[in-house]
Amino acid sequence: KNGLQVAIDGPASAGKSTVAKLVAKQFHYVYCDTGAMYRAITLQAISQGVSLDDVEAISKIVHASKITFAPDDDGQKVFIDGKEITEAIRQEDVTNSVSAVAAMGEVRKQLSAEQQEIAKDGGIVMDGRDIGTSVLPDAEVKIFLIASVAERAQRRYKENIQKGINTPLDELQLEIEARDYKDSHRRISPLTKAKDAVEIDTTSLSIDQVVSKIANVINKTL
Ligand code: C5P
Repeated sequence: KNGLQVAIDGPASAGKSTVAKLVAKQFHYVYCDTGAMYRAITLQAISQGVSLDDVEAISKIVHASKITFAPDDDGQKVFIDGKEITEAIRQEDVTNSVSAVAAMGEVRKQLSAEQQEIAKDGGIVMDGRDIGTSVLPDAEVKIFLIASVAERAQRRYKENIQKGINTPLDELQLEIEARDYKDSHRRISPLTKAKDAVEIDTTSLSIDQVVSKIANVINKTL
């Protein structure tokens, strides 16, 4: 193996992808954003006019679509069937529908298998909801990132303002809570902290502080 498997899980907007990218860079590991894969399938369903409760049609989409990543200065570009969707998968309609798609067994089965393939040689930082519990149960490093919902809404709000999106703060907080509820209460591999995960509360930490805490865990394991 060329390096460890690092699993980073946690609720929505806890800063997983921001720190995961930086940790990957520091250790020259590959970064994989598994949420982007669930978002890609959701976007594909929406753009094909498929109803989000049509399990059969969405199962077909997940088997027919090829999701790929390309490294990029600030993380990675995401493609579905060769079409770039990096920005499109961050749209509000995708964000607010993705949990329904992510609850489907066929979708999870297929995407988990792809994630395991991506991670099999190690040297990977993978972020999501079920990486430490289900996708990579033997990952050498497991991190569970949390932050207060108020702080997470605030962070999402600031990000949105930079992108020109003006959703009110209280609405963002409700959306985050709704998504966490659905992700934590689904039947198949719900969001939970793995028994052997190191929990880091990022509420009052800077990005650099979180990255260095994770780097310490990795260095102790190496
Ligand atoms: O991480 P991100 O917020 O982009 O994830 C979007 C959604 O994808 C989550 O709310 C969840 O429903 C789903 N997801 C999942 N399992 C993962 C990663 C994401 O169910 N490993």
